[in-house]
Amino acid sequence: MPRIPVKLVSWEEITEWSWGLAKVIEKSGYVPDVVIAIARGGYVPARLLCDFLGIENLLSIQSQHWTEAAKKGERAIIKFDYSVDLTEYRALLVDDIIDTGESVILAKEHISNSWRPKDLKIAALQWISSVAKIKPDFYYMEVKEWVWFQYPWTRLEDVTQFLKRIIESSYREEGRVSWTLEDLNKKFIEWYDIAVGGRYIAEAIEVLAKRGLLKAINGSYIYTATTM
Ligand code: ADE
Repeated sequence: MPRIPVKLVSWEEITEWSWGLAKVIEKSGYVPDVVIAIARGGYVPARLLCDFLGIENLLSIQSQHWTEAAKKGERAIIKFDYSVDLTEYRALLVDDIIDTGESVILAKEHISNSWRPKDLKIAALQWISSVAKIKPDFYYMEVKEWVWFQYPWTRLEDVTQFLKRIIESSYREEGRVSWTLEDLNKKFIEWYDIAVGGRYIAEAIEVLAKRGLLKAINGSYIYTATTM
């Protein structure tokens, strides 16, 4: 049984969803002069919207809420508080997903007060309507039940976190310390019900080994059970 609901999102879906979002914006009649990507999740959708809507100006703001895959950070913060004058611009603030909505609410407030655009609207590929505190002006997909979307741009980061959780909780629950690549592959599918493919599992194991959580011994990986 997967421990949290996860949906794997492919690059093809991202392209398709971004086209869909671009058409929603176009149909609305809103013509932004500048796109503002919320870092880091909004980067790829924002760049694609620039392409699909023919917008040259692209800025970004880092408003962060989720510090690791599917675990909420304390609260949203604006990193790198710099100032730009957008008084002559109609802006489009873009994120991948509106989940609780806290990062986008904070970014919107900061941009309105400090960058002062002529107009400011919000666009997201996905909007989790059951939990979000804000409805974006434009979205491609309304999600009714909370799911962790495993986007292609956080694949290694997410797989690493997911493996770490498997290893740590198996140690807590059964005292297990030894794993093969095959065991981890199998457990990963059992827990999260997605097949990430490619080299992600192997690379994530490398990351955990570099961090000192795992040690490779005779073709197996040993959990070092340190606190990290
Ligand atoms: N970032 C914040 N919420 C998310 C979710 N539900 N899926 C993927 N990335 C997210």
